[in-house]
Amino acid sequence: PQAPLTDRFGRTVNYVRLSVTDRCDFRCVYCMAEDMTFLPRQQVLTLEEIARLARTFVSLGTEKIRLTGGEPLVRKDILELVRDIGQLGLRDFAMTTNGNQLDRLAQPLRQAGLKRLNISLDSLDPERFRAITRTGRLPQVLTGIDAAREAGFDGIKLNVVVMKGRNDDEIPELIEFARRKAIDISFIEEMPLGTITEHHRGESLCTSEEVRTIIRQHHELVPTTADSGGPARYYRMPDSNIRVGFISPHSHNFCATCNRVRVTVEGRLLLCLGNEHSVDLRRVLRANPIDDDRLRDAITQAMDLKPERHHFSSDGDVQILRFMNMTGG
Ligand code: GTP
Ligand code: 5AD
Ligand code: SF4
Repeated sequence: PQAPLTDRFGRTVNYVRLSVTDRCDFRCVYCMAEDMTFLPRQQVLTLEEIARLARTFVSLGTEKIRLTGGEPLVRKDILELVRDIGQLGLRDFAMTTNGNQLDRLAQPLRQAGLKRLNISLDSLDPERFRAITRTGRLPQVLTGIDAAREAGFDGIKLNVVVMKGRNDDEIPELIEFARRKAIDISFIEEMPLGTITEHHRGESLCTSEEVRTIIRQHHELVPTTADSGGPARYYRMPDSNIRVGFISPHSHNFCATCNRVRVTVEGRLLLCLGNEHSVDLRRVLRANPIDDDRLRDAITQAMDLKPERHHFSSDGDVQILRFMNMTGG
């Protein structure tokens, strides 16, 4: 088999996050501006092109693929792509979704070979949920979460972006919800991608340490030693099987063990979430419709551009102009 992709800092890159659309049926305040313009069709990779990228990455040692967006489930014929990628023999195959369409799609996704799901859930209060997502309806997402549980995935995780004054007082309820449903939950520090006007990111930042302090008023949190291979650090509670994760781009730097790259839906290979280094794979894909060697070379060489680390500052200043929906989380 192929030697795995490695970068200049000796990190192995065996995890790829593929964005399948920049569109979304929600407009979360931390992710998008209210009036977003989306990409015209010809700039967006076709499902065949995305599947070809997936195959090529697997031939270069990729063991894990996560489909992201925007919202992956608004892409037409997404199940076909999931089926194609599901047949590549990946160790792990996951999707990050807002849950809005899981009532209908959880079961078919599972049958198509998807192994794990991350579902965003920032509030258990319908009005607040609406305020944060701008268009979302909480009951629909709760139904989706139950559908996902019934579909028998290998793992489901909830994602909470914690914002002071918006949902930081709901942390205990969200923990109880996750315990009751027996699903893992991660609390995320908001990252400064794109310019938003709804709140000041620096002022609303709730650090993972603050979140842990709140949880510890109700439950003991025991750090796990297992390395997630990613940005999350996980804890357990003695009286529950669920894991509680913390993604702390501001307070904990996990860059030294970063194992991942992203491809945007325009086919831009992004070497780091917090930097602009990228390589245009769409051009290579379209210039070489049959020959995958060029594509393999472009990907292998791109690893030299992977920066050592990201520098998000916690004052909320935007350093990265692209929005999260263009980045794929
Ligand atoms: P796995 O690592 O695949 O288990 O999942 P995850 O929790 O990383 O993925 P998910 O798509 O659910 O993302 C959760 C949060 O982590 C989002 O806010 C992502 O933007 C963030 N995240 C994922 N990867 C990175 C990364 O490389 N750097 C930073 N700073 N944040 C990341
Ligand atoms: N900072 C941190 N997390 C974000 N997400 C979207 N935008 C941001 C941001 N600016 C999260 C979503 C979802 C995942 C893909 O990324 O809540 O769980
Ligand atoms: Fe859509 Fe996810 Fe962005 Fe919310 S965070 S607007 S659900 S892509």
